[in-house]
Order: sequence, then structure tokens, then C-alpha cells
Amino acid sequence: MMLAEKIKLGFLVSGRGSNMRAIIDNCCAGKLAAEPVVVISNNVRAAALEYARQADLPAFHLSATLNTDPRKLDEDITEVLVSHGVDWVILAGYMQKVGPRLLKQFHDRVLNIHPSLLPKHGGKGLFGMHVHQAVLAAADIKTGATVHLVNAEYDQGAILSQITVLVKSHHTAESLAQEVLKAEHLLYSQTLQGIIDSTVELP
Ligand code: GRF
Repeated sequence: MMLAEKIKLGFLVSGRGSNMRAIIDNCCAGKLAAEPVVVISNNVRAAALEYARQADLPAFHLSATLNTDPRKLDEDITEVLVSHGVDWVILAGYMQKVGPRLLKQFHDRVLNIHPSLLPKHGGKGLFGMHVHQAVLAAADIKTGATVHLVNAEYDQGAILSQITVLVKSHHTAESLAQEVLKAEHLLYSQTLQGIIDSTVELP
């Protein structure tokens, strides 16, 4: 009997990469039937790149500072993902728009996680602490995180899964961010496993 091949994950990251790490750790621990194969960052100083190198994963810095032609940059990123046999592209704190070439190559196979219950508090300018400040300013009683497919617009692809975090009177934007981030670490791997097991519905 042939064992099914694990799906291969390629990460796009810009910063600390805690979501990427949670996914890689779950893969290594056998809790997620997937294999991280490559990490790309637009930020040469991203902690995520350093982590990838320590984990012996191929890690690339590809950015507009090195490549000023956006079309070529999009092609180069796509080429690295394709040449590493990536099945699913995982955005994990990637602070750039994904290019059309990549979206065509990996149609409906690019995931992102956003720290709110989309469609609330998503779109341009709503990232990081801005999201949690907006939740508090709106006096929302609940927030959370959303995993969605990526299309050409910020935070607008099909929603695949969500996790809820209740907003309490003691919450500050910082403490809310911490709680939501913990929930993100659970949700991203669970959603990926759901895709693998076909329990998460894809469009
Ligand atoms: C997370 O809050 C994620 O929802 C958002 O960017 C942040 C990335 O955090 N897209 P990390 O780099 O994974 O720690």
C-alpha cells in the first residue's frame, strides 16, 4: 500500500512568524499531516527567516528592495514556490499584496489568517494592533480570527474558518492581541488539517 504524500506548504512572512512556527511545530510533532518546504520573506530581518534557517528549511528574501519590477518579483516568488513543489501557500503575517502570477498559479490554494472575525475589521490599513483598537472602539463583545482564501483584494477571499475570543472589560488592545494570537495558532493548523481531511469546505 502506498502512503499518501503529505501536502507541501510554502510560507510567505514579514515579521516574527509565530503562526508559521506553530504550523511547523505541529508538522514536526506529527499533529498536522503536512510538510513545510520553503519560507519566503520580503523583510531580510524577519525573525521568521531566521527561524526557518535554524529549522533547516530553504529560506529566501525576495522583496521590492531587491527587485523593483513588481511583475518580475511576482514571477520570482511564484518560481521559488513551484520549484519547491509547494501545494498550498500560507500567508503568515505577510505585509504585501500577493501578485497576480502567484494567484493564478495557486488558484484557491493561498491561505491567510486575519486577527478579527471577518468581514468585520478587515481591509487596507487594518492590520496588527489597528485591528484590536478598532474592535475596542466599536465596543464589540466578541472578536477572534479568520482563515480565508486569498484573492486580489485585502481580506476578501472566501472564509474557511473562524475562532471566537470574547472581549472583556479588562481587555486592552495589547491583551486582546495576545489572546487572539493564541487562538490563531490553534485555528491555522486545525484549518489546514481540515483541508487535508476534506472536513473544511473549499469553494
Ligand atoms: C497575525 O496576527 C495574523 O493574523 C496577521 O499578522 C499577524 C502575524 O503574526 N495576518 P505572526 O508573524 O504570525 O506572529
